[in-house]
Amino acid sequence: MHWLGKPRSLDFRVGAAADLEMLHSLEIELFGEEVWSREHLLRALEDSGQEFRLALDGPRLAGYVWLDWCAGERGTVEVDGLVVAPNYRRRKVAERLLHWAVDRAAQAGWPRLQLKVRADNLPALKLYAKFGFHKVEDLPGVYPGGKDGLLLRLEQILAKAPDFARKRSQLEGWLGQA
Ligand SMILES: CC(C)(COP(=O)(O)OP(=O)(O)OC[C@H]1O[C@@H](n2cnc3c(N)ncnc32)[C@H](O)[C@@H]1OP(=O)(O)O)[C@@H](O)C(=O)NCCC(=O)NCCS
Repeated sequence: MHWLGKPRSLDFRVGAAADLEMLHSLEIELFGEEVWSREHLLRALEDSGQEFRLALDGPRLAGYVWLDWCAGERGTVEVDGLVVAPNYRRRKVAERLLHWAVDRAAQAGWPRLQLKVRADNLPALKLYAKFGFHKVEDLPGVYPGGKDGLLLRLEQILAKAPDFARKRSQLEGWLGQA
């Protein structure tokens, strides 16, 4: 871990076009050639139908979630990206970002979140299972190298909102372990 002593709390804020380089650098660091192009990310950052939420440690990007309100049918918000930088993992950064996504959907009165995940991505599958996502479809060979994917959904967000709000409040101010 790069920090010394007690871990600092992170700041969470909306992402904007000015954050492009930071987002693209993290994509390259994690996924190499498989990343979204700079142009694609910029279009998404400038698109009013898409939203980014960033987790920041001072000037450093610790993670982000990316929502697309127009990719699926009405009522279904698509999670296009959820990424946490290696140094910040297991500090509930992804969990806090995903709680924000659930809350955004609930506020908008939309009942579903949907996302694609590699079938062998166990950390992500455990995270999504913790939130109650379930599989709606197998997506054979959709990832680079012919890797299989899964389409997952979290349904009935409005009915579950009080439960999510309780869990979210338990995570507020969470620092995690260095
Ligand atoms: C998957 C990923 C986003 C998780 O981020 P994170 O901030 O480390 O996750 P959190 O600390 O919020 O963990 C929340 C839950 O996820 C699960 N989880 C996360 N990482 C895990 C791991 N390495 N092994 C097992 N479970 C894990 C656990 O259920 C955990 O709950 P717990 O703390 O009560 O055990 C992160 O590993 C990552 O960025 N991976 C590369 C990009 C990626 O795969 N994104 C998802 C694409 S669909």
